[in-house]
Amino acid sequence: MPRLPFDPYRFAWPIVRMLDPEVAHGLAVRALETGLVPTPPPVDDDVLKVRLWNLLFPNPVGLAAGFDKDARVYGQMLDQGFGFVEVGSITPQPQPGNPKPRLFRLESDHAVINRMGFNSEGHAASVARLQHRDRARGIVGVNLGKNKNTEDAAADYEIGARTFAHLADFMVINVSSPNTPGLRALQGAEVLRDLLVRTKEALSAGAAEHGVQRPPLLLKIAPDLTDEDKADIAQVSLDVAIDGLIVTNTTIERPATLTSVHKGEGGGLSGRPLFEASTRVLGEMYAATKGKMVLVGVGGIENGRDAYEKILAGASLVELYSAMIYHGPGLAARINRELAEILKADGFASVLHAAGQKGA
Ligand SMILES: Cc1cc2nc3c(=O)[nH]c(=O)nc-3n(C[C@H](O)[C@H](O)[C@H](O)COP(=O)(O)O)c2cc1C
Repeated sequence: MPRLPFDPYRFAWPIVRMLDPEVAHGLAVRALETGLVPTPPPVDDDVLKVRLWNLLFPNPVGLAAGFDKDARVYGQMLDQGFGFVEVGSITPQPQPGNPKPRLFRLESDHAVINRMGFNSEGHAASVARLQHRDRARGIVGVNLGKNKNTEDAAADYEIGARTFAHLADFMVINVSSPNTPGLRALQGAEVLRDLLVRTKEALSAGAAEHGVQRPPLLLKIAPDLTDEDKADIAQVSLDVAIDGLIVTNTTIERPATLTSVHKGEGGGLSGRPLFEASTRVLGEMYAATKGKMVLVGVGGIENGRDAYEKILAGASLVELYSAMIYHGPGLAARINRELAEILKADGFASVLHAAGQKGA
């Protein structure tokens, strides 16, 4: 697809906003699959490069889980300028998720509410799409969920870890979506310890079966946690020696500032109104893990300045989803250009030099 001197999303947006959000999402994925979405000029700047674990991220701005749930368009999204893509959440067995409508745009709030409930084509469909991928195209993480009716939740994460160990550049345990009953209770200390130990072992076993190194294991947490929960999560994560935390998922809170007609819908809120709370939790987790744990900052990022704030609060990488609904997939490249400028203006040689420097 040719590079265009203008942003085609600006012209498509008036049509997109008239569509049901889930229909619009389906069309966007289809357009990406068929190569109809033009790619922006690449942003290649040393200040943006992040070397973490055994991976070299070309830039720190990733696509958060939930956009490419079934690993259909990760390659195209890498081509859009994302430094990495997190596919999923993927459940072991296919499941339809919650009844529609289950996705709402809160336009006046620059926000989204979703109660998708892990609609997933299941492990097998994503394995088929990931197994022949060209790893040189970019970094892809796999986010694992659990089926709604699974009693032994840890078993679903173990199966996922074993199944995707040789296909994922990193693996994420998602216990923080608000739309699967009982899921967030897995963030409690003892149950979490058991879950992380079992999943890490399964990941090692899966990697050994294929003769590859165990990919890094990360845990994705909610913004709606008590101080005790946060302290426990930090301690357990350090004890089990997982490789990172993704901070945060959507919130069940409804800030009083919301004005959209959809603000009363049930589900998880994301986008601009999540920025402050998720960045606060990020800073708290940075302090609680004493900078010893890699943190990925997510929640309400709309521009380079927001990404920079997350980095200063402790993030080595960032991710976004909701703002892309309003600005289109080319947003990643724009944020990277802005972020590179800000880092240089503030005298940082790299993202990792700036990580956690708030107040320093
Ligand atoms: C429609 C939608 C679906 C999502 N699905 C998932 C999911 O399957 N797994 C997950 O871990 N997070 C999921 N998320 C949460 C995002 O990955 C992200 O943590 C959250 O939206 C905050 O980032 P944002 O404000 O940039 O959107 C979803 C978010 C949205 C808006």
